[in-house]
Amino acid sequence: MASVAWTWIGIRASGVTAWGLLTAVVLWGILLRTRLLGHAASPTRLLDLHRWLGASALGFLALHMFLLLVDPYLPFSFGQILIPGLSSWEPLAVAFGICAFWLLIPVSIIGRLRPRMANSGAKLFQRSHWLAYAAWPMATAHYVLAGTDALTQWSIAILIAGTALLVMGLLARGFVPAPGPTRAAGSVVLR
Ligand code: HEM
Repeated sequence: MASVAWTWIGIRASGVTAWGLLTAVVLWGILLRTRLLGHAASPTRLLDLHRWLGASALGFLALHMFLLLVDPYLPFSFGQILIPGLSSWEPLAVAFGICAFWLLIPVSIIGRLRPRMANSGAKLFQRSHWLAYAAWPMATAHYVLAGTDALTQWSIAILIAGTALLVMGLLARGFVPAPGPTRAAGSVVLR
């Protein structure tokens, strides 16, 4: 059996995991906003999980990008993993991934700084979250176009399940009114 570089397996595994976590982050954000789960999950717990999922998604994304730098088969330079269009391999597919990455950076930085910001920070934080919504279709286009395994049965099942959950969540977000304009739960202010 021909040997397969472990980095290549790692790139694919970390990519799919990052996509799954990103999908879960957006979904948890919607659950937090709509309180669809009612008393089954407290806002504080949902927020904790939302943050944890976000940090994990970024962690797997960092791993995905690091492995691309060290992969002996298709090595990427720093420039090629950070600047859309520089990759000689599937430039459009890779550019979608890079754009998704850059869209996630301000959301996470503003999220970290928010406790130190005054009231105006809440608006900025809320607006920055639209970037996370934009990152998801970019990451999905990247997955479908760049993935070696993207069109295998298990991958299509993951893509359909994640997309269906998000679509249902977004429909619920549109139809279920949010509980209040700015909601406080203890020290936690929810978007
Ligand atoms: C939110 C951002 C990102 C997500 C969720 C993501 C996710 C994924 C997924 C799911 C795959 C398909 C794995 C497979 O089934 O084969 C993949 C492949 C790939 N990604 Fe990303 N990615 C992201 C950002 C990036 C960035 C910034 C780069 C920088 C160059 C990149 C480069 C690649 C490459 C080259 C492949 C092809 C690997 C292969 O199958 O040979 N990705 N990514």
